[in-house]
Amino acid sequence: MSRGRFVVFEGIDASGKSTQARRVAEDRGARFTFEPGDTPLGADLRRWLLDASAPMSPVTESLLMLADRSHHAATVIEPELAAGRPVVSDRYWASSIAYQGYGGGVDLALLHAATELAIGDCRPDVTVLLDVPVEVADERRLRDHRDRFESADVAFHERVRAGYLELAAADPAHWRVVNGADDLATVCAAVDAVLAEVWPGA
Ligand code: TMP
Repeated sequence: MSRGRFVVFEGIDASGKSTQARRVAEDRGARFTFEPGDTPLGADLRRWLLDASAPMSPVTESLLMLADRSHHAATVIEPELAAGRPVVSDRYWASSIAYQGYGGGVDLALLHAATELAIGDCRPDVTVLLDVPVEVADERRLRDHRDRFESADVAFHERVRAGYLELAAADPAHWRVVNGADDLATVCAAVDAVLAEVWPGA
């Protein structure tokens, strides 16, 4: 049996990636999943991670994100792929590199090594980056419902966005960048065009 296709959507907060990940998973009969928090352990970790009243260092954040990821990869993603079923995830390893590494200043080489430890060979076939300017994302966000990461300043989100673009540019075989600032119909069409190329016949 051939391994299932593994597609990840990434982007800054309010980039529209969750909408696209859910839509694509439904259209293609894939298992939709997300990080942080799509396991019982992960749901507890997510509560702590997003609690604006419980600040923690970027290193602590990284380790909790990686604990969530390692468990998520081993108990959800890998079993689905091994059974030949496709998986679409809203965020995965690159979120930690972008947010805790580029955004929070955690050493990138150490983060990459810890990622290797957490996920091993469970790597996406393709990661679609929905790229939007920080001002556009900022306008989209509900101003009264921000979690800890969403409350971070503009400079933080600029670093996260730049980090994502750098990751995508460094590995064009596994990344595609879509302009997420367009209207919804245009973004959907652009995502579908990318997937037709990297995930044909689904
Ligand atoms: P979400 O809004 O996509 O559910 O993600 C929750 C927040 O967690 C979002 O602001 C990004 C942040 N995050 C990290 O900082 N590092 C990570 O590794 C992941 C998966 C998410």
